[in-house]
Amino acid sequence: MIELNRVTKIYPGADQPAVDGVSLTVPVGQICIFIGPSGCGKTTMMRMINRLLPLTSGKILLGGQDVYAMDEIQLRRGIGYAIQQIGLFPNMTVRDNIAVVPRLLNWKKADIDRRVDELLNMVNLDPDTFRRRYPRQLSGGQAQRVGVIRALAADPPYMLMDEPFGAIDPINRAVLQDEFLKIQARLHKTIIFVTHDIDEAIKMGDMICLLKDGRLEQYGTPEDLLIRPKNDFIKSFVGADRALKRLNLLTVAEAMLRNPIHCRESDSVASLQDYMTREQLSYLLVVDGDNHLRGYVSLLDMMHFNGLAGEIVRPMTLTVPPDWNLKDALSKMLHYDLGILSVVDEDNHLLGVLNSRTLFSTVGETYDGKGGHWGKIESGGRVR
Ligand SMILES: Nc1ncnc2c1ncn2[C@@H]1O[C@H](COP(=O)(O)OP(=O)(O)OP(=O)(O)O)[C@@H](O)[C@H]1O
Ligand SMILES: [Mg+2]
Repeated sequence: MIELNRVTKIYPGADQPAVDGVSLTVPVGQICIFIGPSGCGKTTMMRMINRLLPLTSGKILLGGQDVYAMDEIQLRRGIGYAIQQIGLFPNMTVRDNIAVVPRLLNWKKADIDRRVDELLNMVNLDPDTFRRRYPRQLSGGQAQRVGVIRALAADPPYMLMDEPFGAIDPINRAVLQDEFLKIQARLHKTIIFVTHDIDEAIKMGDMICLLKDGRLEQYGTPEDLLIRPKNDFIKSFVGADRALKRLNLLTVAEAMLRNPIHCRESDSVASLQDYMTREQLSYLLVVDGDNHLRGYVSLLDMMHFNGLAGEIVRPMTLTVPPDWNLKDALSKMLHYDLGILSVVDEDNHLLGVLNSRTLFSTVGETYDGKGGHWGKIESGGRVR
């Protein structure tokens, strides 16, 4: 856990504090994002945590211990630090740069070599190609990756990362973000991560700390900032499309209507026709006796037909799994021009449906439409 208690920094000669009374707690194993306009104090806050800068006032605790009462060297060994300007040693190879802290900790050479290769592989840099290169022989993005894995080298419980992906193009950046989240899911480090990019903050952060002129404007989960921005500055910082950004955070399972109205393939069309006409439904989902989704029937197909629903069932164009994010689900709906999306598990059991109404109410907009030509889909299980 990292705790900041009314932390203030006034640089010598400055008339304004660079960091002004910031208090926050980063829980163990979480990624906390520092974000805010250039000059708002992000780097200054980080450098006070590992004591590269002295505090003017306040307290910083790491795992309950006051960092200013700890042995400075011990403290830094426990904190991986990837700095904003990458800061690789120009006269050392990539291998030696990564090995700096493990060497300080007297690791055996074979262990260091194994670790270096493992880390290079982790960020898609081929060890045989890159191990012996010097920083000047790397692109900006490659150097930044080496900077990140150098911070990870000795497996410290805490990481301070100052715009670690700032110099990387959007595609490789997304790959690295995904990789990093995978690594974090395994390692559960307690991380402070600085970025300028609100989308990166929403994707990577468990918590987001939004700063302005050295002051904490809002500290909360990405959802908090998107749904409950405390003031106009936060609203505009998060962006006018914050409702759409929420789609990235939510899964289909969280938004879907559970237990939607449906029928069995063994139901007679005559009984369904009455029901659908009364309820103004043009289509109805069909399942078999074990709740496997078979498809849908349309009111039009039912005209002059006297058999069972299973005989006129049409397959669904598309189904989605419950763990997809809503943005992907919505983009499929738009791409295939679907009024509803059915949600099924791996065995094709019907779990729920998404329609425009469930989507709109989930992203927090008011919408009183009826879900297009499917009519009003409600929960309630099987048609009676
Ligand atoms: N060594 C210093 N001496 C005096 N003022 C400084 C020093 N370093 C930073 N500042 C000032 O403190 C404020 C915060 O700087 P800091 O580097 O923490 O900002 P930042 O949020 O990291 O910005 P960026 O996004 O541009 O990296 C700025 O106004 C900056 O000019
Ligand atoms: Mg900075």
